[in-house]
Amino acid sequence: MSANDTPQQSATYDSAFLRACRREPVPHTPVWFMRQAGRSLPEYRKVREGIPMLESCMRPELAAEITLQPVRRHGVDAAVYFSDIVVPLKAIGIDLDIRPGVGPVVEKPIRTRADLARLRDLTPDDVSYVTEAIGLLTRELGATPLIGFAGAPFTLASYLVEGGPSRTYENAKAMMYGDPELWADLLDRLADITAAFLKVQIEAGASAIQLFDSWVGALAPADYRRSVMPASAKVLEAVAGYGVPRIHFGVGCGELLKLMGEAGADVVGVDWRVPLDEAARRVGPGKALQGNLDPTVLFATTEAVEAKTDEVLEAAAGLEGHVFNLGHGVMPSTDPDALTRLVEYVHTRTAR
Ligand code: CP3
Repeated sequence: MSANDTPQQSATYDSAFLRACRREPVPHTPVWFMRQAGRSLPEYRKVREGIPMLESCMRPELAAEITLQPVRRHGVDAAVYFSDIVVPLKAIGIDLDIRPGVGPVVEKPIRTRADLARLRDLTPDDVSYVTEAIGLLTRELGATPLIGFAGAPFTLASYLVEGGPSRTYENAKAMMYGDPELWADLLDRLADITAAFLKVQIEAGASAIQLFDSWVGALAPADYRRSVMPASAKVLEAVAGYGVPRIHFGVGCGELLKLMGEAGADVVGVDWRVPLDEAARRVGPGKALQGNLDPTVLFATTEAVEAKTDEVLEAAAGLEGHVFNLGHGVMPSTDPDALTRLVEYVHTRTAR
């Protein structure tokens, strides 16, 4: 704890989630789910009715309510602020939208040096609704920590350069290989925007942050190290002074886990492809791990969910710190009761 902690950061300091992030002993393994606030919940679909995704992110009362829904329903150990990785880009005037069933779509992709001028700095005033929503939340959450988040430079660049979701990232990679200087400048701009967005969330009361580099698993380690890691490291370094845990996560990143830890993470998020004991060997000492139940397991029987959860917990048994999560976000058609049962199961199995 430091003198600059917000009241929420002090109130949550001894929570199981923050203790696990700091690799301290815990009363039980803490659980939260990526995308726990969202379409798997009927109460979410109800309050979102007729309100476009980005608009709901900009309404503080609504964003706070959606953030609280999974905490009330599932008894998870942390809340994750309801927003999206493209919110800071929208806030600085990038012409983008989130299309249902598609994802973020950018009207005019960023492909040239002239396009870079459209990426101006983010100031707290651009996202005053975030400060307001987190203020509301910290009053409601009490001792439950709030996780703030942002998209990492590579994942944001993938949307900006491609113009939308992609399987191959061909335009982004063409820039990365073909015009490395432009690519480096783009990622550096995005690092500053991302760092500013995370600072707003921490200063408003977030007790931890997660940097999502969801799509960086598309890169080989040498390319990651050369062309992406400096920008991610800049983001993580920019928020190091706050002392809140920094979680760094990507999908299909088995070969990148060590580097993603070295970029400046306190906790490395692991998808379901690498068992946590093997992930710990790759990451090395001094970091907690987060993960990693395959989200599709939740469509199987309760017995199967429990058996696969036991596998995760067994692989995690020797870790310095473990935060239980899925290996990627909750899928929209997941039965919410299966999530509630899973939280209960992990808490019971790991009670000390
Ligand atoms: O985790 C949470 O509960 C907090 C909310 C959250 C959202 N997006 C809300 C959302 C978080 C953490 C994100 C992060 C995000 N957004 C990522 C990184 C996480 C990951 O899954 O890898 C990425 C890549 C995005 C971009 C994005 N936004 C996608 C791919 C989509 C899904 C498109 C679709 O409709 O299938 C979105 C939209 C989005 N963001 C929704 C939600 C709840 C669905 C929109 C809706 O409910 O109408």
